Amino acid sequence: MTMIDRRQALAGGAALLAAGATPALAAPADTLNAAAASRGRRFGSAFAFGTAGADRGSFANPAYAALLRRDCSLLVPENEMKWQAIRPAPDRFDFSRFDPMVDWAVANGFALRGHTLLWAYSRWFPAWLNNYDYGARPASEGARVLSSHIDTVTRRYGRKITSYDVVNEAVDPDTGNLRVTSLSTAMGGTEAVLDHAFRTARAAAPHAELVYNDYMSWEDGNEKHRAGVLKLLEGFRRRGVPVDTLGVQSHIGLFAPSPDAGALARRLEPEWRRFLDAVVAMGYRLIVTEFDVRDKGLPAAIAPRDKGVADFARAYLDIMLSYPQLHDVLAWGMSDRYSWLRTFEPRTDAVINRGCPYDDRFAPKPLYGAMVGALANARELRII
Ligand code: XIL
Repeated sequence: MTMIDRRQALAGGAALLAAGATPALAAPADTLNAAAASRGRRFGSAFAFGTAGADRGSFANPAYAALLRRDCSLLVPENEMKWQAIRPAPDRFDFSRFDPMVDWAVANGFALRGHTLLWAYSRWFPAWLNNYDYGARPASEGARVLSSHIDTVTRRYGRKITSYDVVNEAVDPDTGNLRVTSLSTAMGGTEAVLDHAFRTARAAAPHAELVYNDYMSWEDGNEKHRAGVLKLLEGFRRRGVPVDTLGVQSHIGLFAPSPDAGALARRLEPEWRRFLDAVVAMGYRLIVTEFDVRDKGLPAAIAPRDKGVADFARAYLDIMLSYPQLHDVLAWGMSDRYSWLRTFEPRTDAVINRGCPYDDRFAPKPLYGAMVGALANARELRII
C-alpha cells in the first residue's frame, strides 16, 4: 500500500489535510460531528446490540439511534466484538449480535471501529481461555489461538472496519508492568503476545489503523500506568511492531470534591502534556476512544455537577484537540441512561452519573456544549 493510500484509508472519510494545510472555515457547528468535521475530524460513540424496542443503547432503539444519527459519523461496539461475545469456545465463533450492528452502521453511512481484537487482561478473557490447555507446544498453540481470532474477525468485516483496538489494557496500572495471562504464559511473555497480535492484524487488515488502547489517565495516581504505557510504546518502536496510534480511553474523573474543576485541570495539564508529547514524539497518532466523565466527587445537585463536569471536560478536550495528531473522538455512549458507569461504578448516593453528552432522558447537557466548543476550536489536523 502506498503512503497516500494508507493515509486515505486511515482518514476513513474524514477530510484529509496535508501538513500545514488550512482547514476551510466551517458553517456554525451545532452538533458534535459537525463541530468535529469543521476541523477535519470525526466524532463517534459506542453503541450496543438490542432487539427492536428494547430500552438499550442500541441501534434498534429509535431514541438512541436518533442521537447517533444526529451527532456521530463513526461507531464502535461497546461489548459485541469482544472475545467473550464472539468466541464462546476455542473452535467456535458467534457473530449473531455483532453482524446486525455492522450491517446497520454500514447501511446508515457510519464508519466503524473494532473493539477489541485482544483485551489483554485475564479478568475479561472468556473462562475457556483462562483455563485453556495449550498442549505440548504452548507457544505455537497460543499464537494459533490468537491469530485464528484476529484473522477470522478482520476477514469477516474487511474494509467495513477501518480502525481496530488491536490490544486493549495490557499494562497493569498498579505497577506499570505488562499483565500476565494464559496467553502470555503460553507464548513466553506478554510482549510476544502483543507483537504477534499487531503483526497478525497488519497482515490480515493492511487497510486498517492499528491502535493500542488503554486508560492511563491524567488524574493523580496514574503515574505508573502512564510510564508503563510509554515503555510499551517505546518497545513497539524498537521491535518494529506495526502500531499506528495510541487510543486514549479518556474515562476522566472528578473523584474528590472539586469546587473549581478548571483549576484542577490546569494543575494536571503539564504532566499530561509531557505524556502526550512523548507519545507523539515517537510518531504515534492519538485517538480518544471512550470519552466520558465520572462525577463521583461532585454533589448530587444537577447545576453544580453539570458545570463541574463540563468545565473539566472542556479543559481536557481542549488539550487533546490541541494535538494535530489527534483525529477521531469517540464517547463511550451518548446518554447517561445506558452508561456503563451506572452499574460498573455507581455513585455512593445512587444518583445517576452525568458523564455523557445527553442525560437519561435524552436532553443535551452543559457537557454537550463543552464538547462542541472544544471540537470546534480544535487545532488543525495533521495525519502523519
Ligand atoms: C465496558 C462496557 O462498557 C461494559 O458494558 C462491560 O461490562 C465492561 O466493559 N475500557 C474498555 C471498554 O476498553 O471495553 C470497557 O467497556 C470500559 C473500559
